[in-house]
Amino acid sequence: MSSVVVVTVDGPSGVGKGTLCARLAEHYGYHFLDSGALYRVLGLAARQRGILDNPVALTDLARHLPVRFVEGKILLETQDVSDTIRTETVAALASQVAVIETVRAALLAFQQDFAQAPGLVADGRDMGTVVFPQATAKLFLDASAEVRADRRVKQLKNQGLDANIDQITKEIRERDERDRNRVVAPLKAADDALVIDTSDLSPEQVFNQAVAWIDRQQVSREFAV
Ligand code: C5P
Repeated sequence: MSSVVVVTVDGPSGVGKGTLCARLAEHYGYHFLDSGALYRVLGLAARQRGILDNPVALTDLARHLPVRFVEGKILLETQDVSDTIRTETVAALASQVAVIETVRAALLAFQQDFAQAPGLVADGRDMGTVVFPQATAKLFLDASAEVRADRRVKQLKNQGLDANIDQITKEIRERDERDRNRVVAPLKAADDALVIDTSDLSPEQVFNQAVAWIDRQQVSREFAV
């Protein structure tokens, strides 16, 4: 049994995965993998290079993606793209490149290498199903599209950005549709994941449920074998 603990948190956009993962990583003192950021950086880099419609070039770029996570910043080569990748436009590019099987395969080992002692919290769409199928504890967060759009609008307004609720709801639905219905690594809960509907829960309540589940999984592993 590996001594590195891996906690996976999957789910669609706007369910509060980012908030939960940051708190879990801090609580347990684990590393954090924001796998969505990798797909976002790839989408952005592909657009800059004009290769969005070229799966071979995209796969090659994914294999050698010049991305670095440095002191809370995300760098594409030397460019700080931490804010740029958070736009809905880049999110759409990410979900577009994420449907390509060879691109996902190219990013697999890179993501798995984040599993370093003492542990990892991995945030994404296929963390529990594909990237870390042997994870210690798996969570899947969900919420209605309306609640998720509402949260996204509040987030954008807090950042001083304009946000149209109808437009955001439409974009969220389209992206989820693509993520859930793609052939490779579609967005779905692993069979052994705890599913939490966060629609009517506070971040605190979600965190408490998650910690209770993770602690229980760790204990049952220690007593297994
Ligand atoms: O989580 P985030 O919103 O940053 O993800 C952006 C997009 O990247 C998702 O809509 C999805 O298409 C893709 N993605 C993925 N697999 C992951 C993480 C993200 O396909 N593990």
